[in-house]
Order: sequence, then C-alpha cells, then structure tokens
Amino acid sequence: MRIILDCDPGHDDAFALLLAAASKEIELLGVTTVVGNSYLENTTRNARTVLDLFDIDLPVFAGCDKPLLRNTVVAPNIHGSSGLDGADLPSAKRPIEKLHAVEFMAQTLERYSDVTLVPTGPLTNIALFMLRYPHLVKRIKEIVLMGGGIAFGNVTPAAEFNIFADPEAAKIVFKSGVPIVMAPLDLTHQVIVTDKEVNRMRQMGEKFNLLADLLIFFKSTYKKVFGIEGVPLHDPCTVMYLLHPELFEAKDYYVDVETKGELTYGQTVVDLWHSSGRSPNAKVLLKADKERFFNIFFEKLQNLKEV
Ligand code: BDR
Ligand code: CA
Repeated sequence: MRIILDCDPGHDDAFALLLAAASKEIELLGVTTVVGNSYLENTTRNARTVLDLFDIDLPVFAGCDKPLLRNTVVAPNIHGSSGLDGADLPSAKRPIEKLHAVEFMAQTLERYSDVTLVPTGPLTNIALFMLRYPHLVKRIKEIVLMGGGIAFGNVTPAAEFNIFADPEAAKIVFKSGVPIVMAPLDLTHQVIVTDKEVNRMRQMGEKFNLLADLLIFFKSTYKKVFGIEGVPLHDPCTVMYLLHPELFEAKDYYVDVETKGELTYGQTVVDLWHSSGRSPNAKVLLKADKERFFNIFFEKLQNLKEV
C-alpha cells in the first residue's frame, strides 16, 4: 500500500517512520515534515537523521513552518529543544528536497489514486493541500492520523497536542469528506513503552541502542510532565493500524474540532451517542492489543539493516 508519512519528529514520529520503512507491505513514497514538536528546521533535520541512521533512501520534503492561523506551539517539555533529544545522533546528511511538502502531495496524488496520508503531527500540511488543490482531495484514499482525544487532552485538559497545535487545519481535515481513521489519546495510552520494551530495543544492536536512548528520554519527560511511569507510543499506532487493523477495536463516529472555546480550543468533540444527528466522518480506534502490537513492532524493526 502506498503512503506519505507527514510527521514532526518527535520521538514517537521517529518510530512511526522506522516502522513504515521497515514494513514490506508499505510503499513509503516520501516523508513530509511540519512544525509541531519542534520548529520545522528541527523536525526536518530529525526525519533525515533517522533515515540516515538506518541508511533508508527516501526523499524528505519540508512543509509548513507555522500553523494556518494560530500562533506556533512546540513541545520542548516532551521532546527536548531539538525535538529529538536523548541520543547521540549523527548529523543529517540526506538533502532536503526542493519541492514543498504540499506540492509533493499534489504531484503524488495526480500520479496515483491509491495513496493513504498518514499524519502524525499537526494537520497544517494536509489542510493547506486541501485548500490549494480541492480537485485532488477525492483522490486521497484515506487519512490515518494520530490526534485528538475522547476523554482527555494532553496540552490542556481538553486538547491533544497535534490538534491543539493547529485546530483550524484539523477542522478542515475532519470536514473534508475523506475517509479518516483517528488514533486518539484514549487508544495510544494503551500502547505504553516500559523498561521491558526499552531493554528489548537495546538488545537488538548498536543502532537500536540509540533508539533505546530516545525512549529513555521520552519516558523521562512523561514521568516529569504527567507523572506516569511508561510512555505511550502514540504515532506508530497509525502505521500499525495499516499493517494489522485486526489488532484494534474501532467504531465510526462524527468528530468535529472546537476552534472557539475558551477552555476547549483544539478539542476533538466525538459524538459517542450520535446526538448531533450527523453521519460518522471517522473511524475512531478505541482499543489495542498491546502484546501483539509490540511483538509485531519489534519483528518489523529487525528488518532495518545495521550498517
Ligand atoms: C502527539 O503529540 C506529539 O508530542 C507526539 O509526537 C504525538 O504525535 C501526542 O499527543
Ligand atoms: Ca508526532
């Protein structure tokens, strides 16, 4: 299956990228980057570094360096000031493509009619693509995104980071009519990395040692900020859903995004009881089989060569 990964690496984005690149079932056409966990320069560098680390030859296209309307928010408290703190990573060598991420999406969707977009950061690039190329929106097969929450947020009590960082963009995406699969916090908080997974990663080899260091850092910020022991592996849930949808329980709901609320700006409002009378616009992932998730995750990552 053909995908474009639109990301803001970001620790968990890095693992989503590696999982996609390591999976033969997925044809990763390109990686696009967006401001999110850190500034665009950093997220673009981090995507390149992660690819370089395992000698994965894929083009990286930089996208939007600010949200559509709101002021920029980044997350150094979670991902460090580089966006990918915690490991002694080599500097990025792979070039940044000249084409803007949104133009790459347009060219790719002109060419293929079976491309799934996988956003694991704020939805700015995707929304801008929809605004600029409305005639291509119908060509998107599906959008499988990490974002939002049903019961809770993680930046404010109501809002999850990817949606909070660009709620106006998220609203455009949820209203686009494209089939959406949403991995909310309620799901991703079931896929928790503990010391067991960190140690399993360490035993896989030298490069994986660096990945284990990244997980340790990510775990430490979650402990500091949220007081929880393990860290949710948010973004890889999207790629795992594409590989193994049977690991997830899901239901179709109507989802909208709050863009005006004083306390709820950036909240995803999920119509659990169908009280809005609106037809569902998203398949919302609700439960994951954590054990099988991690077994497949590690099995796939083994495919990455140690060079
Ligand atoms: C999301 O926000 C970012 O910090 C993570 O990379 C993930 O995409 C979780 O709320
Ligand atoms: Ca992310």
